[in-house]
Amino acid sequence: MDTRTEIAQIFHGTFIHSVSLDKLEVIKNGLMGVDTHGSIAFVEREVDVSKIQEVLAKLGVEGEEKGQFLLPGFIDTHTHAAQYPNAGTGMDLPLLQWLDEYTFPLESSFSMLSYAQKIYPIVVDQLLLNGTTTAVYFATIHLESSKYLAQVAFEKGQRAFVGKVNMDCNAPKSLIESVEESIQETESFVQYTLSLESNANKVDEHEKKGTRLVTPILTPRFAVSCTSKMLEAVGNLAKKYDDIPIQSHLSENREEIAFVQKLFPDIENYTKIYDVHGLLNDRSIMAHGIHLSESERALIKERNAGISHCPNSNFTILSGVCNVRQLLNDGIKVGLGTDMSGGSAKSILNAVQSASIASRVISMSSSNNETKKHLSLPELVYLATMGGAQLLNLENVIGNFQVGKEFDALLVDTSTSIDPAPFHAFEGIDDNDVLRIFEKFMFLGDERNLRAVYVKGRMKVHEYKNSGRCPVC
Ligand code: GUN
Ligand code: FE
Repeated sequence: MDTRTEIAQIFHGTFIHSVSLDKLEVIKNGLMGVDTHGSIAFVEREVDVSKIQEVLAKLGVEGEEKGQFLLPGFIDTHTHAAQYPNAGTGMDLPLLQWLDEYTFPLESSFSMLSYAQKIYPIVVDQLLLNGTTTAVYFATIHLESSKYLAQVAFEKGQRAFVGKVNMDCNAPKSLIESVEESIQETESFVQYTLSLESNANKVDEHEKKGTRLVTPILTPRFAVSCTSKMLEAVGNLAKKYDDIPIQSHLSENREEIAFVQKLFPDIENYTKIYDVHGLLNDRSIMAHGIHLSESERALIKERNAGISHCPNSNFTILSGVCNVRQLLNDGIKVGLGTDMSGGSAKSILNAVQSASIASRVISMSSSNNETKKHLSLPELVYLATMGGAQLLNLENVIGNFQVGKEFDALLVDTSTSIDPAPFHAFEGIDDNDVLRIFEKFMFLGDERNLRAVYVKGRMKVHEYKNSGRCPVC
């Protein structure tokens, strides 16, 4: 067998990525080769392009334009696909009242597959358009609609983790299942999603190589809407399917925590509830984790579970401000989530900006030197890329431009801004300017600055520019 790598694409220019929590690498005059399976075959630094101009021209490699750079794709570690229609609305109530008033009624509509067919393709397109190359989705309790979301993500080529939600109490009748029905349908959902790749006849060889694109994720909603029997049954599924991840909500809102404590009076704290039911391990992604005690943080660390930090949502539905610095100091894995529509925005750029503000709020009210330092730009980029990869146990697959990883990337073009002036106040493009332009993109940019979005080497979005038209719809 010929095992030589066949190079399918070569990129030349500036590449920016995280090499550790507090260190960004800016690769200038870089050359990056991506093979036919979508993996990064080589990365060369400081290439004297003038010497190989002819070779590059022959290969059809385009020259770098000023203000362009490649970034690793963004990873949204917590979002609710079904809540997309509510994004940016219903921001007047805290969690439990917000669920009753706005969220549960909307989710009930997904009992109709036709509604899912209307909404889910838009969600996947919009997230890709915003640079989310990997999304970790909550669907709803409904089997057919959840399967449809997995199918849509797969067909559109987004890397996705999709969960059919489990819930059997403290919700309207339309969102309550029996434990038996819920477990049976969850298994059916898991089997369907796992088989997407092998069954798809539309899928070419390229997609079949490397890691799978769409993975099922066990999704007990939270300890308020799952009885102990339900949590235990999902915990048993987690044992049976010991290579698929788990997601839920944890310690988001003080009223929620008090309610959970009433529902599970014999279990010492919220985190332990998931632990005793077999749902807290190195495959678990717990959204929020705002009000955790020291012993809860120690347990999360011990189990090597991760926290999805959802700062926009934490502000929007008035849950609190998560002390991410403390989680990081404790050695807990942290990624970013939009938690749409608890969060009002769908973009991880917004999550980065909100995480920055949240960390500044913490910093201003903290007298503790250990937690006083607000999150730096390198740390925020890490959370949006490598941090998410770690939560998903994909740190050897995605998250930065290390050779051997799969090429999930964003081609940022700061000249496509509606108002390009702020990006082009810099001349000369020396080391500092590249970082300042990059910083401006992270804090002031948006999807109009994404010239292309790649998942596993495949271009999914291109040339958004200012046309106002969505190129993936
Ligand atoms: N806790 C349980 N369900 C939800 C949800 O849909 N959104 C948020 N933010 N928290 C939850
Ligand atoms: Fe959520």
